[in-house]
Amino acid sequence: MRPLIAGNWKMHGTLRDAAALAEAVRAGAPAGVDLLICPPFVHLHVVAAAMLGQPVAVGGQDCHAAAKGAHTGDVAAAMLRDVGATHVILGHSERRADHGETDAGVRAKAEAAIGAGLTPIICVGETLAQREAGEAEAVVAAQVKGSLPEGFLAADGVVAYEPVWAIGTGRTPTEADIAAIHAVLRGLTSPATRLLYGGSVKPANAKAILGLPHVDGALVGGASLVAADFLAIAGAAGP
Ligand code: PGA
Repeated sequence: MRPLIAGNWKMHGTLRDAAALAEAVRAGAPAGVDLLICPPFVHLHVVAAAMLGQPVAVGGQDCHAAAKGAHTGDVAAAMLRDVGATHVILGHSERRADHGETDAGVRAKAEAAIGAGLTPIICVGETLAQREAGEAEAVVAAQVKGSLPEGFLAADGVVAYEPVWAIGTGRTPTEADIAAIHAVLRGLTSPATRLLYGGSVKPANAKAILGLPHVDGALVGGASLVAADFLAIAGAAGP
């Protein structure tokens, strides 16, 4: 399976920064790896237009479950598709925490995304308390069962395992722990579903993480804001 290396830019940078970062990623894109960048909504159109026809896909960081309507501040999946996005991250732990997103809500968003022709990247992951209580596998399995909609497999849906305590902290689970969760994810999805690991992926640990069984790529936050780091991670995924 071709690896997917996705950059989640979160709420960082100016439009000028976004354009420059996208161009640097495009210029250094390695062969044999699918690259995706997910800028903030307001930068998405400009970045997607610049990446049209280039080997770098562009995605949103969220979408609303409804096709349109009175939802101040929200963005519909079809709007993302209209400006050139092909993917959308859904159910990121920061959205689950900051905006109270539930598995059922994520599932509804994923249905909307698939209906609009987007590939959903559904994020799951346990908190530190849940891991310490020995509940990580059960929590992740429940999130997958609750968040993945009908049609997910046919839409080439992607699942990202992101332990909450590893995001932006510099801490990562052991390789055995990542492999154990990814084995659970594989059992709940299809052999064709790309399973990403996310949480403090950086050039120094990318090769080891990406070499684990059932790890088909990475969802990268902080390191995706530095083109050289993001490209080094992509290079580590390559053939
Ligand atoms: P991080 O973020 O790489 O900065 O830990 C990952 C993510 O939230 O997707």
